[in-house]
Amino acid sequence: MSRDSDKDRLDDDQRDYATAAEQGDVMGEIDDPSGEKDLYPEAEVEPETRALEPRVSVVSEQPDAAAVPGADEDEFRWHTEARHAVEGVEDAVEFIDVHKAFGRNEVLRGLNLGIPEGKISMILGPSGTGKSVCIKHMVGLLYPDQGDILVHGESVPNMVDDDLFEMRKKFGVLFQDGALFGSMNLYDNVAFPLRQHTDKGEEEIADIVNRRLREVGLGSSNDKMPNELSGGMRKRAGFARALVLDPEIVLFDEPDSGLDPVRTALLCELIKEVHAENGGAYVVITHDIASARRVAEFIAVLWRGRIVESGPARDLFASENPFVRQFLSGESQGPLGME
Ligand SMILES: Nc1ncnc2c1ncn2[C@@H]1O[C@H](COP(=O)(O)OP(=O)(O)OP(=O)(O)O)[C@@H](O)[C@H]1O
Ligand SMILES: [Mg+2]
Repeated sequence: MSRDSDKDRLDDDQRDYATAAEQGDVMGEIDDPSGEKDLYPEAEVEPETRALEPRVSVVSEQPDAAAVPGADEDEFRWHTEARHAVEGVEDAVEFIDVHKAFGRNEVLRGLNLGIPEGKISMILGPSGTGKSVCIKHMVGLLYPDQGDILVHGESVPNMVDDDLFEMRKKFGVLFQDGALFGSMNLYDNVAFPLRQHTDKGEEEIADIVNRRLREVGLGSSNDKMPNELSGGMRKRAGFARALVLDPEIVLFDEPDSGLDPVRTALLCELIKEVHAENGGAYVVITHDIASARRVAEFIAVLWRGRIVESGPARDLFASENPFVRQFLSGESQGPLGME
C-alpha cells in the first residue's frame, strides 16, 4: 500500500517536472535569469543559449527528451483525434484527458474518447496499447492518475464504494480470458451475477439463465464444467453471463482471440443479434479487422495512449489518415512499425 503511494508520488513528481519543462519553466529557470529570452522568438533563442551555456543542455537533457514540443508533436502527428460525431446520439461512456501510468510505463497519455449510446463500438489498436486498461477504467477496476471517466454522465473515479457497486450493475463484462469460475458448472457460472447482485429466487434465476444459455447456443450444456468446454463455448458462456443482468453497457475484451475464423464469424453474428434484440452500448475490443468490418458501427483507433481517430465505421474505413489506413488494411508499410 505504502509502496504504491510512494510510486504514485514519484510519478506525480516526474509528471510535474515534465509539465514544467514543457511550459518552459525549467529551461527558463536555468537559462534565463535576466528574462531576456522573452524578447526573442523561440527559434532564435535556442541556439544562442546553447552556445553560451553548454552544460545547461546536459542538466536538462533527461526531462526534455520527453518534453521537447517538437518531439511530442512528432509522436502524435497522426493523432488528429478527429471525432466524427454520430448525430443525435449521446455518449454512454466518456474519457476526458485520462492519464494512467504503471511505474514508468505511461499507458494512457491524455485519452479523450466517447462511446456512443445504443451502438456497437470497437476500440482497435496494436497489442499492448492499453485497450484492456481502458475497459478496466470504465468499471472502476483501475483509477486514472489524471482526468475523468464518465458513465452516463457520472464520474467513476469519484464514486463512493456503494455507488460504484450500483454502477457496475449497468455493465456486462466479457474479460479477455472468458474468466469462468473453474470450480462451478456452466449453469452456476451464468447464475453467479444474479445470485450476487439481486435477490431473485432460484426459479426466476433459472428462467433467465436458461434463456441466456439457449440464446448463445449452449442450452444443453448446463452441467458441463469450464474445462470440458471448447474455447468458443467458453466465450459464449462468458457472453451469456455478461448478459444476465440486462446490462445497459456490455464490454467485450477480445471476444475473438483464440477462435478459428468460422467461430469468430459466428460469435460476431451472435453479438449483432443479441445487440439488435437488447440494445445498449456495446464496446468490443479487438485487433481483428475482419471482426471490425462485420460488427462495428463505431470505431476508435487507440495508439500511444491516445485516440488517433474515431467515428462511424464507414468513415474510419474511408479515412485518409495514414496510420488509420495502414492499421485498418493490415499493411506492413506505414507509420506503424514493430515497437
Ligand atoms: N495491472 C497492471 N500493472 C502493471 N502494468 C500493467 C497492468 N495492466 C496493464 N499493464 C501494462 O499496460 C500496458 C497496456 O496493457 P493492456 O493489457 O491494456 O494492453 P492491450 O492493448 O489490451 O493489449 P492486447 O491487445 O495484447 O490485449 C502494457 O504495457 C501492460 O504491461
Ligand atoms: Mg488486452
